[in-house]
Amino acid sequence: MTDSKQILVTGGAGYIGSHTCVALLEVGYQVVIYDNLSNSHEEVIHRIKKITGKNLTFVKGDIRDKDALKECLANYPCDAVIHFAGLKAVGESVEQPLKYFDNNLVGSLRLLEAMQESNIKTIVFSSSATVYGNPVYLPFDEKHPLAPTNPYGQTKLYIEEILKDIFKSASDWQICILRYFNPVGAHESGLIGEDPQGVPNNLMPFIAQVAVGKRDTLNIWGRDYDTIDGTGVRDYIHVTDLAEGHIRALEYLKDSSKLLVANLGTGKGSSVLQVLNAFEQAVKTTIPHAFKNRRPGDVAEAYANTFIANSLLKWKAKKDLNSMCRDHWHWQQKNPNGYNPK
Ligand SMILES: NC(=O)c1ccc[n+]([C@@H]2O[C@H](COP(=O)([O-])OP(=O)(O)OC[C@H]3O[C@@H](n4cnc5c(N)ncnc54)[C@H](O)[C@@H]3O)[C@@H](O)[C@H]2O)c1
Repeated sequence: MTDSKQILVTGGAGYIGSHTCVALLEVGYQVVIYDNLSNSHEEVIHRIKKITGKNLTFVKGDIRDKDALKECLANYPCDAVIHFAGLKAVGESVEQPLKYFDNNLVGSLRLLEAMQESNIKTIVFSSSATVYGNPVYLPFDEKHPLAPTNPYGQTKLYIEEILKDIFKSASDWQICILRYFNPVGAHESGLIGEDPQGVPNNLMPFIAQVAVGKRDTLNIWGRDYDTIDGTGVRDYIHVTDLAEGHIRALEYLKDSSKLLVANLGTGKGSSVLQVLNAFEQAVKTTIPHAFKNRRPGDVAEAYANTFIANSLLKWKAKKDLNSMCRDHWHWQQKNPNGYNPK
């Protein structure tokens, strides 16, 4: 279905990137992963090849190194870039904002310069629902005011603004900004999945580590929100559905110049207790948990309006919470220490 186009995937060894590389290879794209492995393992490359039975190119490099990027693009000419590379820990970004502005913002600038100088003008960018900040209304649609509440979200918003300005200045670019909600789950093979370093920041990897015995208890922050059961509600999306969204974005961009911003979520919120219950069903045992006070900065509910992705990208999330939990657990069970064999 593709004409063997080659795609540069920055951050392609990471969680979402690796699943997207599988999806790209499976529909016939060629893939060049460019990743500095700051939050991933080279083992991922072997696993992607094992799942797909296809070859790919891996270049170890930093997106802040424009010369290395240009050399990579000269050696492996690409038609488009999917840009995942970035740091993503909200809490760390509050403590070390400069690290985030340097890595995510400066890195993206260098990448865009390298693209321009290599005459590549098609990019799919990993943005985040964190650009919306606190909900003024729900579901979040793409016109919702943008007011990130932490430096991580700020980096995403600035990069979005840069992309919009590039499009204004040179409308031969083809740009798709994807705002992800809460990616979870893993490839059904159990060969690739999320491998958080240290204490997981997100709910499902945390539950999975409690279930596998790496952590004692899940702390549930707040049970007095105005939600279905008092716990916080988020829009969880299976990572393979998310990966598919990137294929649709490339297809959408291929014919003409355009700039599109689209939410990728299911449009449906699930509470912490609903996720916990679904995970317990997948594991077939109870998972120790304790209720704690609300955390400052957390909102009661957040979920997406997915009309733009549904109608323009012709994309819809297919997998439900049970599949997300089953696949996440399968990955966790097969890889209790992630990609680290010890
Ligand atoms: N996972 C989420 O919950 C989520 C939600 C919304 C948006 N996003 C965004 O999606 C993208 C991918 O997220 P993920 O969950 O796969 O994260 P990840 O950490 O698993 O993957 C990011 C990859 O980028 C690489 N990387 C980081 N800085 C780099 C640099 N300077 N040069 C080269 N490579 C670099 C890392 O080594 C890693 O392999 C990120 O931009 C993230 O901000 C993630």
